[in-house]
Amino acid sequence: MTVPAPAVPAPGATGPGPTGVLFSVEHVTLRFGGVVSLSDVSLVLHRGEILSVIGPNGAGKTSLFNCLTGVYTPQEGSIIFTPKYGRPLSVIGRKPFRVNRAGVARTFQTSRMFNALTTFENVKIGAESKQHTGPVGAMLRLRRTRREEHESDLKTLELLRFVGLTRRANELSSSLPYGERRRLEIARALGTGPEVLLLDEPAAGTNPAEKIELAELIRKVNTELGVTVLLIEHDMKLVMSVAQRIVVLNFGQVIAEGSPAEIQRDPVVINAYLGSAETDDPVDDGGAGNGPVGNGPVVGTSSDAGGDGL
Ligand SMILES: Nc1ncnc2c1ncn2[C@@H]1O[C@H](COP(=O)(O)OP(=O)(O)OP(=O)(O)O)[C@@H](O)[C@H]1O
Ligand SMILES: [Mg+2]
Repeated sequence: MTVPAPAVPAPGATGPGPTGVLFSVEHVTLRFGGVVSLSDVSLVLHRGEILSVIGPNGAGKTSLFNCLTGVYTPQEGSIIFTPKYGRPLSVIGRKPFRVNRAGVARTFQTSRMFNALTTFENVKIGAESKQHTGPVGAMLRLRRTRREEHESDLKTLELLRFVGLTRRANELSSSLPYGERRRLEIARALGTGPEVLLLDEPAAGTNPAEKIELAELIRKVNTELGVTVLLIEHDMKLVMSVAQRIVVLNFGQVIAEGSPAEIQRDPVVINAYLGSAETDDPVDDGGAGNGPVGNGPVVGTSSDAGGDGL
């Protein structure tokens, strides 16, 4: 049995580094009535890298993810996803499931799982997403259906092993501690065989030990599976330890971009966001976030401003 492969082999598997453009976002503006969530946002995600998007609550981070995944349709700009093999896809106006099939997977800011299902069943939903058998095939138990069922069982087991949840396979997902739920969600997203994984505050609500495990898992997703990672996170220690590049949003605008070292000493970023943010020790706020809040250097809890749009 092998580790579930991404939709296509990504060069990141042999080490991170820019090896082509995966997402190209140009001049994207997203409005909700009078609220401008994203204002003339341009950025590039290179194939094989771990890019983090940081910024205060309400800065537009989740809105950006929703635009990249087809959930929101910006009024202006362009978003092009270029898979390793296959034609570039203009994301704007595409249905989210089409964007997902093209190789873009995500997790959500607020934990989403089927609480009445086991860990195994939750992950299997992701692993089954590319099956060809329809409901009729399932009813008739065609040979192909049985083969696909077997394959998704194996894939699910491998995903559980990959994220370290094998021993939890038969437990109800609702019984898992928060850090394990977050890893379950990553496993489910990986089940779709993505080229890129978008993680929206994966460490929110986790304790310091869980944050360390999560950082290791994110690196492993990138280096072992070759999956490009776009990470929204308020925990600066986690961000600085895994991201190769950082983009900073504030009031819907990109205010800085650079390496973790560059971002940490950027006066504009310090003033708008980092301020008194904790960067040396893992923060355990026991809640749904742990970063600076609002548009000033205040440490507090994150909210679900704007939600995930689903
Ligand atoms: N569906 C929506 N309807 C109306 N306004 C929205 C919607 N989605 C987002 N917004 C607004 O867009 C702005 C950016 O919200 P968004 O959720 O993207 O911020 P964020 O950076 O993810 O914040 P947080 O760190 O709190 O998660 C906010 O003012 C929010 O209220
Ligand atoms: Mg958000």
